[in-house]
Amino acid sequence: MLQINNLHVALEDEGKQILKGVTLTVPAGQVHAIMGPNGSGKSTLSYVLSGRDGYEVTEGQATLEGHDLLEMEPEERAAAGLFLAFQYPVEIPGVGNMTFLRTAVNAQRKARGEEELSAGEFLKLVRERAKALDIDAEMLKRPVNVGFSGGEKKRNEILQMAMLEPRMCILDETDSGLDVDAMRLVAQGVNALRAPDRSFLVITHYQRLLDHIVPDVVHIMFDGRIVKSGGPELALEVEQNGYADILAEVADA
Ligand SMILES: Nc1ncnc2c1ncn2[C@@H]1O[C@H](COP(=O)(O)OP(=O)(O)OP(=O)(O)O)[C@@H](O)[C@H]1O
Ligand SMILES: [Mg+2]
Repeated sequence: MLQINNLHVALEDEGKQILKGVTLTVPAGQVHAIMGPNGSGKSTLSYVLSGRDGYEVTEGQATLEGHDLLEMEPEERAAAGLFLAFQYPVEIPGVGNMTFLRTAVNAQRKARGEEELSAGEFLKLVRERAKALDIDAEMLKRPVNVGFSGGEKKRNEILQMAMLEPRMCILDETDSGLDVDAMRLVAQGVNALRAPDRSFLVITHYQRLLDHIVPDVVHIMFDGRIVKSGGPELALEVEQNGYADILAEVADA
C-alpha cells in the first residue's frame, strides 16, 4: 500500500535535514505503529506524505499503491486515498463542520468518478458515524474545531476519517489528550475501518493505544530514521524501559 524508500527531507527555508533516510513499507490490510522520542521526525514524515508546504525532499521516494505521492498535489493524494489525522487539528472559523465534511466527501467521490452523496444520504451517514464517536449534533453545526476541546478535536479527526473512508490512514498522536473513554471510542472507530484493502500508520507515544489497536509492526524512529522494527512487544519494551536500551543496542550494532 504505502512504500517509503530512503526518504530524506530538509526544511525548505533553513535547509535543516529532518528525515535522514526513512524506509518503511506498510502492506495492504496492516496496521503499523511509529513510536519515537519528541523531535525524531514523526510528524514531519506525516506532513511530507500528505503534501504540506515547507519541506524539500532531497532524496528517496514515497508511493501509494504504486503512485508517486511526492509528485502529487495534496488534494490528489487525498483523492488517491491518503488521509492524515493531525497531531494539532486546525480550527477553521466560518466553515461549518457538516459543510466541511460534505464538501470533502463529495470532492473525493467526484475525483474518483463516483456519484456525489445526496443531502439526505450524507446526513444519515454523518449522524450515524458521529454518534459512534460520541460527537453530538451540535458539534456538527459548529465551525470546524472552533472552540472544540482537545479531545473533541481528536474525535472530529476520526469522524473525518470515518466519512472519507481512505485507503491509507495516518494518525499522528490521535490518542494524546484523550480521556480513557474517548480513546476507546477512537480505537473502536479505527478497528471498525480495518479492512484488507486499507492500511494504517499510527504514530503514538503510548503503548496503551496499541492494546486497543493491535499493530502488525511497531517501528522506532530516532533522529530522522527508523532504527528498529518489531512486533507489539517492542511498544511494551518502550513503555517499560524508555528508549535508552533500544538506542544503545542500535548504536552498538
Ligand atoms: N518548520 C520547522 N522549523 C524548524 N524546525 C522544525 C520545523 N519543522 C520541524 N522542525 C524540527 O524537526 C524535528 C522533528 O520534528 P517533528 O515534529 O517531526 O517531531 P516528532 O517526532 O513529531 O515529535 P513529537 O513526538 O514531539 O510530536 C524537530 O527537531 C523540530 O524542531
Ligand atoms: Mg509530532
